[in-house]
Amino acid sequence: ATFLRILGIETSCDETAASVVVRHEDGRGEILSDVVFSQLDEHSAYGGVVPEIAARAHVEALDGLIEEALARANVSLDEIDAVAATSGPGLIGGLIVGLMTAKAIARAAGKPLMAINHLEGHALTARLTDGLSFPYLMLLVSGGHTQLVLVRGVGEYERWGTTIDDALGEAFDKTAKLLGLPYPGGPAVEKAALKGNPDRFSLPRPLVGEARLDFSFSGLKTAVRQAATEIAPLSEQDIADICASFQKAVSRTLRDRIGRGLARFKQEFAHLDVDRALVVAGGVAANQEIRRTLQALCIENGFRFIAPPPRLCTDNAAMIAWAGLERMAEDLPTDGMDVAPRSRWP
Ligand code: KG4
Ligand code: ZN
Repeated sequence: ATFLRILGIETSCDETAASVVVRHEDGRGEILSDVVFSQLDEHSAYGGVVPEIAARAHVEALDGLIEEALARANVSLDEIDAVAATSGPGLIGGLIVGLMTAKAIARAAGKPLMAINHLEGHALTARLTDGLSFPYLMLLVSGGHTQLVLVRGVGEYERWGTTIDDALGEAFDKTAKLLGLPYPGGPAVEKAALKGNPDRFSLPRPLVGEARLDFSFSGLKTAVRQAATEIAPLSEQDIADICASFQKAVSRTLRDRIGRGLARFKQEFAHLDVDRALVVAGGVAANQEIRRTLQALCIENGFRFIAPPPRLCTDNAAMIAWAGLERMAEDLPTDGMDVAPRSRWP
């Protein structure tokens, strides 16, 4: 075949998604369809994702979404070259639903199966959207992950930094909850911050100045709680000021941490003539202030700043399909019917 076409399935958290992606002979990727069902409404009443509810919602939605993805791509199962599904890390119930469905389809249609690491999906997305070449740095900031990763090649990842406590999205969500703002907290905090004074509260900037590339956000949340308790009851302006101060502390922290990452990249590849690029992914990458901060940092350091469109930054199946295609193009092994989902998979 002059190209490969693959069906991708994603069910690791609270998005049920299916997608058909093709990899052309020249290596270029093209998304033929990309459908996502967000379970936000199912979980918002509980202030977070409830695993049991998520697993049941995946069961109900997945078959229909796969049919829709195939229909929109205008292909039948016969015309698909492989099936890729997220097999970890994530919530085990959802992973079982997606991987079992993928196995059933692969077996019935006689197609190879690719069990994909969700983080690899995020890591390779910029090659689908921007044709980026290796190596590059990737910052993944979502509700479950905060990682700075050196992407050397398909299957070659080096984690340079990770959070030692809360994920950044989690810090946004917890801060929102403390302030009585709705779930998910990120968009609510960002909106409130627009009308706030970022200099009213001096919040901590954890690990700033340290040589290691890790992150820590739980102290920030504690400081927000203290500030909120001291001035309670909170007016709308108080809430806006806390949100603005929180975002400022986050931005300054990222500036320091990622700045060190860029310096290390320059040092590591000083002898090579490589393009320098930083890719962001994950729901928090939708935050405009964080984007501006990272963009400015990249310009100062001679890096390209790549932020895939928000739809492909958050959880989706196109990235899983693409990771499968990249692995097939490298002749990496496919998976057998005995492959098991893994809730933890660094
Ligand atoms: O990648 P994602 O959709 O799902 C996973 O966690 O896998 O990320 C969701 C996270 C939530 O914590 C949410 O509060 C955060 O991303 N988020 C934001 C914004 N939009 C979503 N955080 C800050 N600013 C935003 N605009
Ligand atoms: Zn994700």
